[in-house]
Amino acid sequence: MKLDNLRSLLIEDLMDLYDAERQITEALPQMIKAASAPELKSSLEDHLKVTQRQHDRLEKVFKKLGVEAEGKPCDGMKGLLKEGQKVLGKQADPDVKDAAIIAAAQKVEHYEIAAYGTARTYAKMLGDMEAALLLEQTLDEEGQTDQRLTKLAEYHVNPKAASAA
Ligand SMILES: [Fe+2]
Repeated sequence: MKLDNLRSLLIEDLMDLYDAERQITEALPQMIKAASAPELKSSLEDHLKVTQRQHDRLEKVFKKLGVEAEGKPCDGMKGLLKEGQKVLGKQADPDVKDAAIIAAAQKVEHYEIAAYGTARTYAKMLGDMEAALLLEQTLDEEGQTDQRLTKLAEYHVNPKAASAA
């Protein structure tokens, strides 16, 4: 696609996010399986449901823009998930592995926060408030997930990981 205006850049970014959300949906079950702390497992399970909704919400945004919902391979997310997966199969203290899973999940969240923030702003600039609001809704959810993971790490997982022999 030729990027001759901001709208085409927005559509490119949405295609990237559409694929990113799909990749996350596929990767989360492995992370849930590898996690030990029940609080972490349930956070990731909740996030899986949210991610599926976010994937579907993007379809609404595509529809709003009058284009077909289509993904294009998101190499950034592929790399982040690949990095995260390296740790899943490793021999590790369970608490240390939980800490690593949180770190991997937060890298994913930060990618999404950057990408949704940008897409929301482009939609706003283009005067498409409905699309901007949909994107902002997801942006807020990503922020909440990130904060929840930070709390979980700070108060629960990292202190336990720090006392691993
Ligand atoms: Fe997401």
